[in-house]
Amino acid sequence: MKNLTADELREAYLKFFESKGHAIISGASVIPENDPTVLFTTAGMHPLVPYLMGAMEHPAGKRLTDVQKCVRTGDIDEVGDAAHLTFFEMLGNWSLNDYFKREAIAWSFEFLTQHLGFRPEQLNVTVFRGEGKEGEPGYIPADDEAVEIWKAQGIPEERIFRLPREDNWWGPAGTTGPCGPDTEMFIDTGKEKCGADCRPGCHCGKYIEIWNDVFMQYNKNEEGKFVPLGRHNVDTGMGVERTICMMSGAPTVYDTEIFAPIMAAIDALRSKGYSSRQPAVDNQLSDDDVLKARRIIADHMRTATFILCDPKGGVKPGNVGANYVLRRLIRRAVRYARMLGIGEGFTVKLAEVICDKYNHVYPELKVNLQQCKLDLEAEEKRFNATLDKGEAMYKKVAEQLKLHGQSQISGKTAFKLYDTFGFPLEMTCEMAAKDGLQVDRAGFDEANRKHQELSRTTSAGSFKAGLQDNSAVVTRMHTATHLLHAALHKVLGPTALQKGSNITPERLRFDFTWPEKLTPEQIKAVEDLVNGWIREGIDVTKKLTTVEEAKSEGAMALFGSKYGDQVSLYTIGDISKEICCGPHVTNTSELGSFKIQKEQSSSAGVRRIKAVIGNLS
Ligand code: SER
Repeated sequence: MKNLTADELREAYLKFFESKGHAIISGASVIPENDPTVLFTTAGMHPLVPYLMGAMEHPAGKRLTDVQKCVRTGDIDEVGDAAHLTFFEMLGNWSLNDYFKREAIAWSFEFLTQHLGFRPEQLNVTVFRGEGKEGEPGYIPADDEAVEIWKAQGIPEERIFRLPREDNWWGPAGTTGPCGPDTEMFIDTGKEKCGADCRPGCHCGKYIEIWNDVFMQYNKNEEGKFVPLGRHNVDTGMGVERTICMMSGAPTVYDTEIFAPIMAAIDALRSKGYSSRQPAVDNQLSDDDVLKARRIIADHMRTATFILCDPKGGVKPGNVGANYVLRRLIRRAVRYARMLGIGEGFTVKLAEVICDKYNHVYPELKVNLQQCKLDLEAEEKRFNATLDKGEAMYKKVAEQLKLHGQSQISGKTAFKLYDTFGFPLEMTCEMAAKDGLQVDRAGFDEANRKHQELSRTTSAGSFKAGLQDNSAVVTRMHTATHLLHAALHKVLGPTALQKGSNITPERLRFDFTWPEKLTPEQIKAVEDLVNGWIREGIDVTKKLTTVEEAKSEGAMALFGSKYGDQVSLYTIGDISKEICCGPHVTNTSELGSFKIQKEQSSSAGVRRIKAVIGNLS
């Protein structure tokens, strides 16, 4: 087996697929541009959904390859084991209705064995075993074709595992949309099986999944039936960190060259302490506790740094949606740092190390490091102050209990510490354990549940939607966004520049640079302009060109491609010209009408507009 670095692996992968006719495209922002179905880009497929659905052709062709920054926090509690991460890089090769299973599997096998040097015997694969009965709703046949192709590569029957939909099916997240069976590739680490049922997909660590080839050949329709999509796409995802880990024989992803400088920095901060703040050192930590805490700090800080430095920007620590996810990551890192006796200021130090490690691949890290450090510093300070206050409150509670000869902190009290003082339950439990006190966790859960029922947040809704929401209404909002941008330029002048855009099926949100509140007259002027353009029924045209050419025509290129490859330029009459991936409507009359619902401050020098469009009747 070869022992490649992450840099070498990225290059080998892209070159390999380039040699198979794929165009190398740049990965997208980790903050989704126009996809309301996810808070972060969780897989390489997200930025490519319109092309996978066949809504439009990709400017670079039908075979693409890329490296995509991904954030997935669904398994945040697993972080600290050998392979789970909240941020990872995904290598992908894509067929947009071009090649299919035979090529995808053969190339996966060729790359793994001939270019990365895995032995075929190390490789175990899973395939979809089928579901339901033929002729009945919901029936999907087993992927026997994938089995045959793997066998043709020399993988014997005993290392091909047929698994159900929970394991070997990708998408849709919601009720309808494109989807299909997948085949996943696992490396056998050589460890003992954890039991008779141990197989790829088992979490004991014997088998590590490194690559997934998805065959998007179905559409799940409104009746719940899987009907042929009419297209055969391939979407593959190979995890950089896990693959490097398996190649180097490292016991965990944290023991690879990728994490080496981050881990070393954490250990240095630990041995030195880093500020005058008296950290809550816990001398009773077991080796396992320390190991896990180091990994959690490393993982969460890497994710937070990439989110804060993302070129699209706009996600800051906060209480809702993506902002909340970011806050949670930073705060968890702070909590574990306190546990290890690392003092205030560590987040900034680690962001610097992470920037050093990655900025040659992701230049945005260097560009945005200063702001990222300010945001980290502020959040770390804020949370440390909360924890200091919470600890003081906890101490009062504990003294009272001892005074009355009691040994249990009630669920209500633990919840009050959490809800009113922001003191996490885990910290109450840790401190209680040291004081020989118990915590009524069930009582805490009950109090929490009641509270949740009272104040259910709207953000929960943003997790459940599926690909189907990337639909006509989003497309219309997207075109409306271009018109809004153009209207702001006309009314306010060229300094009113886009800072961010976010679209859900309910509304569009647009951030732009402007120093003060818009007057009612300005808002009305913007609305009137957009509605005028809608009434005029102006054609929206797309042409393929290069970034340079588009710029020379006066186009706005907000998040231009790094590779000087082909881009799409959308033109709306003589009103707007923007480099953009689309999708867009073909005529502005499709928008119906446009209304600004809110104009508010977003951050210093940045205003935010929320607007809706009318129904088409
Ligand atoms: N979308 C698939 C995954 O994330 C393959 O890229 O695993």
